[in-house]
Amino acid sequence: MKCSVILLAAGKGSRMKSNTIKVLHPLAGRPVLAYSLDIAGQLNPQGIFVVVGYQGEKVEKAFADYHLSLDWVVQPEQRGTADAVRCALPSLSPSSGTIVVLYGDVPLLRVQTLQDLLAQHHKEDACITLLTACLDDPHGYGRILRNGEGRICRIVEQADADEQELRIKEINTGIYCFRSSFLLEAIDKLEANNAQGEYYLTDLIAYAASKGLPIQSKITDEPFRALGINSRKDLAEAEATLRQEICERWMLEGVTIVDPAHTYIEPSVIIGSDTVIEPNCHLKGNTHIGPACIIGTGSVIKDSKIGHKVQIRPYCVIQESEAGDGTVVGPVAHLRSGTVLEKESLVGNFVEIKKTLVGEGSKAAHLTYLGDCEIGKDVNIGCGTITCNYDGSEKHRTIIEDNAFIGSDSQLVAPVTIGKGAYVGSGSTITKDVPAESLAITRVRQKSIEGWAQKKKNIKAKK
Ligand code: UD1
Ligand code: MG
Repeated sequence: MKCSVILLAAGKGSRMKSNTIKVLHPLAGRPVLAYSLDIAGQLNPQGIFVVVGYQGEKVEKAFADYHLSLDWVVQPEQRGTADAVRCALPSLSPSSGTIVVLYGDVPLLRVQTLQDLLAQHHKEDACITLLTACLDDPHGYGRILRNGEGRICRIVEQADADEQELRIKEINTGIYCFRSSFLLEAIDKLEANNAQGEYYLTDLIAYAASKGLPIQSKITDEPFRALGINSRKDLAEAEATLRQEICERWMLEGVTIVDPAHTYIEPSVIIGSDTVIEPNCHLKGNTHIGPACIIGTGSVIKDSKIGHKVQIRPYCVIQESEAGDGTVVGPVAHLRSGTVLEKESLVGNFVEIKKTLVGEGSKAAHLTYLGDCEIGKDVNIGCGTITCNYDGSEKHRTIIEDNAFIGSDSQLVAPVTIGKGAYVGSGSTITKDVPAESLAITRVRQKSIEGWAQKKKNIKAKK
């Protein structure tokens, strides 16, 4: 059955108390609106019409690369939900099918809920089918009024309700299916004759009922999914729900998550089986983690590829990098953008690496900075090695060929090449290329002054 989605996102979301529009607040690494768009997309609609107003340009820009084509509709002034829908109607074609109205702030809604609603709408050949919920505390929501036969006849908003109506626990979620011919005809009949002076979409219910048109409804058994996000408290709760769902999914796929309540995996991340994720890890963006890895406590990994049997020891920060099969990283290592660790290489504690290839089996075990380097196979980088890659205006490359050995506390002033199998003596500052198989050493020769300590003591005693 054909359908089109009108997604309302023009309101600011004042209860967020933010300068940023509600639908752009991040939820598990993506804007809140992304989730509503995904849900809409899963209905395979003829079109997704997103109504924007407040910060509309920002919203549109944030979704410039979204994988589905979106039709942006501007509502110049936020004059109510019916006005918002009306703004989208001229963009719809006669083949739009049933119109599904959805809000931009319902990230947890299940697609199945919408599919069931649509199925009921078509089966009953209804004019309007709406999703309702029963709440212990219905404050703030539109209340559902039913007649003696239990049929819905009207929705009354909180601001317009009398005492008796305020006691009604069944509320409107704001999610509806409309027969398009009805919507097109009826929307212009509405007036803004209410406490808020707005055009209420909910007034279509009374209009349809007055004409004896069929109205259907379904009560959701998961109100929190349909009611969306209004405040930062709701946002944190939605985040916790999503987090739990993502962790459960990976645990069922054979990933050990030591403490799911304190593990932060974004929806786009992929993890292989038998990998162990220790507490407080943040796995973000386009990150792929292979099987049988250990991701140590407190690590943050973003847009990176981690191979098979990789050990990321605690408190590593890894972004836009690759760690090949069998590599060991950390504890407390920082792999910055463009780092590639080939298989079986080792990067130890307090090592920072940027735009560098570390060849197979090479090691930088302690306290090192490697920037803009190409490191061959089986190279040993001693503790405290620094590549001096920046001359104050430009970056330069350091090349360290296979089997080279860089002694501890050395500085390699780029551009510079250390040849195959060459040695750099500890404490050297290397400014010129080092030929293969040679030793380069730049520190002054050691001299020992015999009896110096005793002499010093004697001078002190005389004073
Ligand atoms: C609306 C419903 C209410 C329902 C509640 C569920 C109406 C009149 N009331 O109330 O019955 O219980 O949702 O959450 O429809 N929007 C626009 N343009 C506007 C106004 C709103 O795009 O001019 C968008 C908002 O960005 C939001 C949605 O429509 O996504 C709902 O607007 P909101 O102001 O939150 O409506 P409520 O008063 O909560
Ligand atoms: Mg609302």
